[in-house]
Amino acid sequence: MIVLAAAAVFLTFQTFAASRTPLPFIPKAVQKAEEGHAKVMRRNHMNLMFHKRDQTVRKGIRTDLNSLKGCVACHAVPGPDKQPVSFESPQHFCRACHDYAAVRIDCFSCHTSKPPGGEDLAVK
Ligand code: HEC
Ligand code: HEC
Ligand code: HEC
Repeated sequence: MIVLAAAAVFLTFQTFAASRTPLPFIPKAVQKAEEGHAKVMRRNHMNLMFHKRDQTVRKGIRTDLNSLKGCVACHAVPGPDKQPVSFESPQHFCRACHDYAAVRIDCFSCHTSKPPGGEDLAVK
């Protein structure tokens, strides 16, 4: 009985704690990705992009795999005007977790944070 009561108190506390912890809101991508992408990216996106950058800048290899353009295109988030928001907006995909985790990146001082061509997501 005591064990059960303790478990109940613990569970109640857990539920309480869980509902009190704010989590980042991560917007959905506009297209599907390959199996396992989300899991790999959650853990390793920075390393994959750094690796890709080095391949491009040092070896001239330019492919779509792990390209920053690809990330911002498929992870485009429509703003109030239905156009993809830029990194200026807290709604931008790349800020969803970073603002939450206080991570700062300078990538978009050179790279565009919008899908190339600034496609209208409404037509997709
Ligand atoms: C062709 C579409 C596509 C491309 C390109 C793409 N992603 Fe994704 N990504 C997805 C989908 C689909 C998911 C699963 C969650 C969802 O539906 O939004 C996802 C999930 C993620 C997640 C986990 C988000 C979460 O909910 O926890 C991260 C981080 C991520 N992607 C980063 C990247 C980065 C960085 C790049 C570029 C190197 C990239 N993605 C390129 C479609 C894409
Ligand atoms: C000072 C400007 C600058 C900054 C800041 C910068 N980059 Fe780049 N990046 C470049 C240039 C220039 C290239 C080479 C483009 C080419 O030759 O095609 C490049 C290439 C890349 C590529 C390979 C091309 C592609 O899209 O596949 C990736 C990936 C990349 N950068 C990621 C990043 C990431 C991630 C950050 C932030 C951590 C970042 N860059 C910050 C200038 C910059
Ligand atoms: C699912 C949450 C999440 C999303 C979405 C996300 N990031 Fe991250 N990112 C993180 C976390 C957490 C870290 C810090 C990891 C660490 O310090 O070990 C990080 C770190 C980074 C770093 C390394 C920063 C440094 O100084 O070492 C880069 C570059 C980066 N993210 C780029 C991006 C880009 C570009 C996007 C959008 C395409 C993006 N991230 C989307 C969670 C995310």
